[in-house]
Amino acid sequence: MIVYGGSNSLKLASRVSEVLGFSRGDVEMKTFPDGEIYVRILSDVCGKEALVVHSVLDNNDLIESLLLLDALRDSGAKRIHAVFPYLAYMRQDKKFIKGEALSAKTILSLLDEKADRLTLINVHFLNGGGAHVFHGIKLINLDALPLIAKYYAEKLDNPLFVAPDMGARNAVSRAAEKTGCEFDYLQKTRLNGEEVEIKPKGLDVEGMDVVILDDMISTGGTMIKASEALRQQGAKTINLGCVHGVFSRGTEIFNKVCDSLVCTDTIARNESLISVTELISESINKIP
Ligand code: R5P
Repeated sequence: MIVYGGSNSLKLASRVSEVLGFSRGDVEMKTFPDGEIYVRILSDVCGKEALVVHSVLDNNDLIESLLLLDALRDSGAKRIHAVFPYLAYMRQDKKFIKGEALSAKTILSLLDEKADRLTLINVHFLNGGGAHVFHGIKLINLDALPLIAKYYAEKLDNPLFVAPDMGARNAVSRAAEKTGCEFDYLQKTRLNGEEVEIKPKGLDVEGMDVVILDDMISTGGTMIKASEALRQQGAKTINLGCVHGVFSRGTEIFNKVCDSLVCTDTIARNESLISVTELISESINKIP
């Protein structure tokens, strides 16, 4: 198998190829002055299996991914395994208002057309790791939350893991269970795209080291409200962890509200203290 990295997942692709003992594929990528993207496969992939590791953060990444997958197919790759550690557009998996585009379905069906196997990590709308089918599209969902729970369980004496809303409840509960630590959750109501209201469940967090875990942090609104609510209830320390550190408003906004902040390297950030390398590698090793 030859491993190809998308332009913002080069480090992760290297780590995965090292762990698996596969060679790295060479790709030429550039952006033309008008913003169009150019992709050329340089290494010989004809008749071989290709593994693409590429986090898609924005529209440009998506085009790059489509071009990369197509170029691999045109170059004769036997099977293409596409791993999207982070894939944008996954938060609209339902139509809430008549006429809305179902972005998760649109994007996944495009990628499904070009790859033989899709692997993602903590997809927002999927409950639990393993094989799933979404609108007829088969995909593997890997769960990285236990890695973050383990990190904090080793760092703190007796952490209490908290899900910031009902949506994260099952995933955080499973992650906490693996560490043997306590778990609870908050109730969140989204007021609009930017604002959320958090109503505490009346947890006894007095003097506790609280760890709030979520699949992703985007604007940070959810985590900030949750941190404030738990701080008000007397938590000793507030520690935040997410799989995907989108951080669309930066990370400075967390400085005053929490004692620590970590994410995985699905998106490479300064806070990426936990790697999904092993998680991806183990999953690839299971391919028949
Ligand atoms: C949604 O429910 C997700 O699990 C996250 O809680 C959400 O996407 C975080 O978004 P933000 O950081 O903008 O509050």
